[in-house]
Amino acid sequence: MAKFGLLFTTLLAIAIAIKAESDPHDFFSQRLGQSMLRTMLDNGMATDNSAVPADELNPNFWRKSANDEIQKRLADKLNTNKAKNVIFFLGDGMSLSTITAARILKGQRQGNPGEESQLSFEKFPYTGLSRTYCTNAQVADSACTSTAYLTGVKTNILSLGVGPNVNYNDCEASMDPANDLTSLYDWAQAAGKSTGFITTTTLTHASPTGGYAHVSNRMWECDTDVRTYLQDSYTSDCKDIATQLITEEPGRKLDFIMGGGAGKFLPKTMIDPFGNPGERSDGKNLLSEWQRRHPGGLFVSSRKQMEAINLEQTTSVMGIFQSKLMNFHQHATESEPTLSEMTETGIKFLSKDDDGFFIFIEGGLIDYGNHYNKPGLSLDETLEFERAIELARNLTDPEDTLIVVTADHAHPLSISGYPERGNNILDVNEIGFDTNGVHYATLNYAAGPEQYLDESGNRIELKGQFGSPDFIFPSYISSDSGVHSGDDVGVFASGPWEHLFRGVLQQNTLPHLMAYAACIGDGAKSCD
Ligand SMILES: *[C@@H]1O[C@H](CO)[C@@H](O)[C@H](O)[C@H]1NC(C)=O
Ligand SMILES: [Zn+2]
Repeated sequence: MAKFGLLFTTLLAIAIAIKAESDPHDFFSQRLGQSMLRTMLDNGMATDNSAVPADELNPNFWRKSANDEIQKRLADKLNTNKAKNVIFFLGDGMSLSTITAARILKGQRQGNPGEESQLSFEKFPYTGLSRTYCTNAQVADSACTSTAYLTGVKTNILSLGVGPNVNYNDCEASMDPANDLTSLYDWAQAAGKSTGFITTTTLTHASPTGGYAHVSNRMWECDTDVRTYLQDSYTSDCKDIATQLITEEPGRKLDFIMGGGAGKFLPKTMIDPFGNPGERSDGKNLLSEWQRRHPGGLFVSSRKQMEAINLEQTTSVMGIFQSKLMNFHQHATESEPTLSEMTETGIKFLSKDDDGFFIFIEGGLIDYGNHYNKPGLSLDETLEFERAIELARNLTDPEDTLIVVTADHAHPLSISGYPERGNNILDVNEIGFDTNGVHYATLNYAAGPEQYLDESGNRIELKGQFGSPDFIFPSYISSDSGVHSGDDVGVFASGPWEHLFRGVLQQNTLPHLMAYAACIGDGAKSCD
């Protein structure tokens, strides 16, 4: 209703402005606003209803759908069961605008206008906002945020699993056990639950790592990286992230890990299953070390091998499907499982434990798509992520399994006005032009590699250029890559204690709420 009100007011204002020709303080009477909106009006804005589904043209449709929402809420019962299982889904860089645009793309792929579509987790009964700033950063990275949402403590940008009292790249302080933060993985393991994580990035990438590594620099993924960053002060006491995953708690106690990044676990002298040399300088083969420590465990490196796992007989699983990051879902090879397939395997495997499980599942390439300013990829990744969440909800019971979906930080992706209903979300605004009469893309980023300007600094026409999912969308600030943004991100919850996940939350509160619901950790617990 508010949107219609606004549109109406806008149109009224335009009409008055056009007629009165006048007040320079009125936005709509100024040249830019007036000519842009006038052109859109001339091109059918506000009068072309051809894309609107017929039932939406009846006011009663809106009244009925609102009433349905009221009834649904009234029927909700507080679910105060103990959460036997917790599934934590993290869409890296999945800003609210990314969710909206992905929802539109989902509907458009089904042949609908798109705006009315809904992602699986948007049906979850409770929603909140998460404030993502880090102790020393207004706009966060994926490391300090991971520390916040997995350990429950906000920390410095680029830090993983250590508190804000540890300085960037300070190895001695980060190796001091007194500075280690414990996480949902530790808390679940202490309660006898099975634990695991899945990512489409590398096993040593920031998001899953805030819960198992303790480093003051997220770039220390293998010893070669630590050497690069510490130079002369390098010592082997300074344990890289891959080593911590295989040899330290809680990493070595994880029952199920899947993702990319084989290189960080193998020496430079070895060739990984994908034909590339390892990245380690210390000669260690951490994959054989994992196998030695998990005699009943199975290492897999292809979709076929993953499908063949005997989930009953295998005691732990490690899957690595690429040397570095996994491919975008759009570009995945036949031998790479999808996020949904990994999710299904993970949940089925961990469900064997009568004490329950905790799993962290990351759609890690949403962020990469946004960094590249390629919404064709980031929105597709978001849709694969929402499919994995739907599958997880289907495979588990809301009576005993809490599912929480959130993002670590946002991206400055805007959805700009005023394309018509059903305008292709991955194309130009068909009816809109800038002051030079040039179309503009509905989706724009604040920063990135392509401004699409001619020699005189005027924007060039992009209509007809958007065929590929790899098309780079325009940005305002010129930079080699897109940047994160500091706006809040969404939180969506379904299952035991779902009603705690509401309001405007500090990001570090999230794991405490999950621990409360599952009766794990050292803080407040629902069963106390
Ligand atoms: C989840 O279950 C619904 C209802 O049975 C079904 O329509 C849907 O396809 C399932 N989703 C997935 C991802 O398997
Ligand atoms: Zn990022």
